Amino acid sequence: MVIRQEQPTDYDEVYELVKISFATSTNEGEWDYLNEVRKKDTFIPELSLVAENEDGKLIGQIVLYKTYITTSNSVYTELLLSPISVHPDFFRRGIARAMMMEAFRIATKMGYTSVFLCGEPDFYHKFGFKPSYEYGIFHIADKTKDAKWCMALELTPGALTGKAGTISIQ
Ligand SMILES: CC(C)(COP(=O)(O)OP(=O)(O)OC[C@H]1O[C@@H](n2cnc3c(N)ncnc32)[C@H](O)[C@@H]1OP(=O)(O)O)[C@@H](O)C(=O)NCCC(=O)NCCS
Repeated sequence: MVIRQEQPTDYDEVYELVKISFATSTNEGEWDYLNEVRKKDTFIPELSLVAENEDGKLIGQIVLYKTYITTSNSVYTELLLSPISVHPDFFRRGIARAMMMEAFRIATKMGYTSVFLCGEPDFYHKFGFKPSYEYGIFHIADKTKDAKWCMALELTPGALTGKAGTISIQ
């Protein structure tokens, strides 16, 4: 398996992959969502990756794109991970972990220092994600300020110190 940057020629196959993958979950519409993400100026081609099997079949994808923390006096550019998917025939073989590690490595090299997402805490805690409220960063929909589903990972230790504020992500 190789993990490489997604190319426009992969888009149709990735669309089918995301559809098959998310059919196993309760999330819907992620395949169309990804098409929208690629059109935004927050999209970063170098951080849209696919996992390609030995036979050339795409069995995983991950996208990190720009998102923003708004504080009382500043706006910080960080990254949002969404979506990540693996073909169901290849679940639990470490493909999601390998894609995350590669995406985080490239992101760090590009100068980004943290990643946010909305998702399942039991899964993402395995990769070091913590509830964003632990950094004083709250999702705009988190009225009670204790949402465990909005998470953050510092790629660089201390990157979120002093960035208490709000975030608006899907
Ligand atoms: C979630 C998903 C990406 C995981 O992919 P994967 O390649 O099977 O994950 P990995 O094999 O790399 O597993 C990494 C770790 O997470 C665990 N894990 C895998 N799937 C999990 C799940 N659904 N819930 C909780 N933990 C899970 C693994 O046991 C492993 O833990 P370990 O390192 O302690 O052994 C995959 O199941 C998927 O594509 N699901 C459908 C789409 C989806 O739900 N995406 C996430 C949206 S928030």
